[in-house]
Order: sequence, then C-alpha cells, then structure tokens
Amino acid sequence: MTTVTAAVAREYRATLTLEQLELDEIRDDEVRVRMVATGVCHTDAVVRDGGAPTPLPAVLGHEGTGVVEQVGKAITTVSPGDHVVLAAAYCGTCRQCRAGRMAYCENLFAQDFGGQRTDGSTALSAPDGTPIASHFFGQSSFSTYANVVESSLVRVDSSVPPEVLAPLGCGVNTGAGAVLNELRPPAGSSFAVTGAGAVGLAAVMAARVAGCTTIIAVDLHDSRLELAREIGATHTINSRSMDMADELSAITGGEGVNYILDTTGIPSVVSSAAGALSIRGTLAVVGAAAPGTTAAIDIGVPSLVKGWTFKTIVQGSSVPQVFIPTMVELWKQGRFPLDKLVKTYKLDDINTAFNDSESGATVKPVVIF
Ligand SMILES: NC(=O)c1ccc[n+]([C@@H]2O[C@H](COP(=O)([O-])OP(=O)(O)OC[C@H]3O[C@@H](n4cnc5c(N)ncnc54)[C@H](O)[C@@H]3O)[C@@H](O)[C@H]2O)c1
Ligand SMILES: [Zn+2]
Ligand SMILES: [Zn+2]
Repeated sequence: MTTVTAAVAREYRATLTLEQLELDEIRDDEVRVRMVATGVCHTDAVVRDGGAPTPLPAVLGHEGTGVVEQVGKAITTVSPGDHVVLAAAYCGTCRQCRAGRMAYCENLFAQDFGGQRTDGSTALSAPDGTPIASHFFGQSSFSTYANVVESSLVRVDSSVPPEVLAPLGCGVNTGAGAVLNELRPPAGSSFAVTGAGAVGLAAVMAARVAGCTTIIAVDLHDSRLELAREIGATHTINSRSMDMADELSAITGGEGVNYILDTTGIPSVVSSAAGALSIRGTLAVVGAAAPGTTAAIDIGVPSLVKGWTFKTIVQGSSVPQVFIPTMVELWKQGRFPLDKLVKTYKLDDINTAFNDSESGATVKPVVIF
C-alpha cells in the first residue's frame, strides 16, 4: 500500500475533495506512475455530474503525464524512468482494437468508465478501507501516483514540458486526431469548428497542419475566438451576435464548408452546421451530449443532392502510441502551439480549474503536482 493525495469525486455535481487514499500494489499488467501533471477535460466534469456510468466515489482524471516508477512482470513497453503520457485505455483484443481502431474498442465503457479493474477490484481505498473507484480511462490521474494499464501508456520525449504533454492524452488528441486521422481534409479545403474549447482549438491547429486554407472557428467567447486566430483560424464567428449559417455561407462564397467538426453537442448547432456544408461535405460530432439527445437533420431533396456525410468520432480515431508522439514532434517544430491553450493550477486549486474551464476563462487547465 502507498499513501497518495487525490482529488475525489464523492457526490454528483459537488466539488472534488482532496484526500489521502491508499493505493494498492501494482498487478503484473500494471505500471506505477508518479504523476507530474494532469489536464482537466470537459468529460471529467460530465462524469463528476453523473453523465456517465462511472460509480462514485471515484478519482477521475484522464489526461495524466508522469514518470514510470515500477512495472509489473508482464509489462514490455515501458521501463522505470520513462516519461509517459496517459491516454484512454483499450482492451487490445477485440475486433476494433485488432484492426487499429482502439478508439472504438468494443469494451470502451468497461475499460474507461467502469471505475475498476476488469476483475472488479479497485486500486484505491479510503483510510477506513472503503473502496474508491480507480482506473478511470485506465489511469485516474487526479492523484499523485496511479496504477495504470499498459494500453494507456505512451512513451514520450522527457524534454517536453508537462503542461504541453498532459492535454495530448484526451482533449488535444480528440480535436487534432479528428482532423488528421479521420476527416483528412485535402490541402485547400475549408474547415469549420463549432465550439473553440480545447478540442475545437486543437482541431484548428490540425486544420492548419493539414493545409486547409479557410479555417473558421465558432464560439460564444471572443477571447477564445481571438486565440483561434492566433493559432491558425482565418475567420471567426461569435454565434451569440451573428447568425452562424449566414456567416459560414458568406465566408465560403455561397459554396458551403467542406468539413465541419462539432464540439458542442448542442442539437441546434449540429442542425445548422449540417445545413452549412458544401456539396460532398462532412459533418462530424465529437461533443458529448446526454443519452437520447437528438438533432434534426434536413433530408429534403436540396440537402439530399449534396451527397454529404455525417459521422461521430471518438478520441480522434487515433492510435495513441502513434499519434501522441506525432503531436509532440509537431509542437517541437512550432507547428502545433498548444501551449497557448494552457493555464496551470496547483492540485489544491483543482476545483477552480474546473470552474475556469466551464466559465470559458481557461481553455485547457493543467494541474501540476
Ligand atoms: N468524442 C470524444 O472522444 C471526446 C473526447 C474529449 C472530449 N469530448 C467532448 O468534446 C466536447 C468539447 O470538449 P472541450 O474540452 O473542448 O470543452 P469546452 O467546454 O472547453 O469547449 C466547448 C466550447 O463550445 C462553446 N459553445 C457552447 N455553446 C456554443 C454554441 N451554441 N455555439 C458555439 N459555441 C458554443 C463553448 O463556449 C466552449 O468554448 C465536450 O463535450 C467533451 O465532453 C469528446
Ligand atoms: Zn478493444
Ligand atoms: Zn477527455
């Protein structure tokens, strides 16, 4: 047993509490990671508020980065001293995993939201012995140390600052991967993102890397839209004061947008984005919405004859062990300025980090341990 300091989600919609917990010994297929930093993702807030099947009390957090301290007997891909980014876990043996589509792992809910090992045990407990859900996204990174599953581990260059590495685990992977792995816009395409948070702004950076020549960011906060311009957007729309569909049409000379990525999960935004596509355009949704949420889509003849595509995307369709090092390299070359999105916090201030993300004051909060 090792005593750790962790931020615990005890009740839905309540602030996290900092507690001393007991972390059990690593299993043969686990790795002990000393956490150096962790991002806070909107999905942590969704789960804290009861929007996913993870049982509470739980230690959330799924954008960890740190140093390997100890490896289980069956571990072959990392060694003590390695610097790692922690990404979403996957089973590795289902048909989707075998085909390199681990973002769509058939066991995704058990692997990432179950709050326990696959044998039903948890790695964390309160001093009185009460179990605390662990292994959130294979890691539960809101803790000074964690027992992490091997599929979550991505070895990275130790010279890169932790506040740059942490967001690569989920939010930045999701936005950038959606563009570079899934949508793959050809150079010269038009691209728009609805919602310019961490996911949306990562998509903006990736659209520039891909060679999109019209890059449009849509949000309600001018500060986020200014940042979008700084990192590669050619146009911005504040949809609080402007009509998004009219603006998208005007910017593209009436042609419509080739690729639109929705990070809001808001039905009215998705409906209007669908109507703003070009002929053969693609609309992809990554924003999380409550179960049962529906969006109206115009399937009438004028829409039909456009031959357009709708899809959802998980974790940027990426193979984390391939795509995260790619993003690190792009950052080192100055082509992926994700540090501009980050503000750092102490673990004591983790609830402020959540609040600042929700209010729009901070795009990507990163807790430094
Ligand atoms: N599919 C996946 O694999 C995956 C992975 C990570 C995160 N997510 C989800 O992606 C979404 C985005 O995550 P994030 O961290 O960037 O969140 P965020 O809250 O930082 O960003 C969302 C942005 O949308 C903007 N917005 C809200 N309503 C809007 C509207 N009507 N019009 C335009 N913009 C609007 C907000 O101002 C905010 O800037 C979340 O729902 C998150 O849960 C999905
Ligand atoms: Zn799988
Ligand atoms: Zn996330």
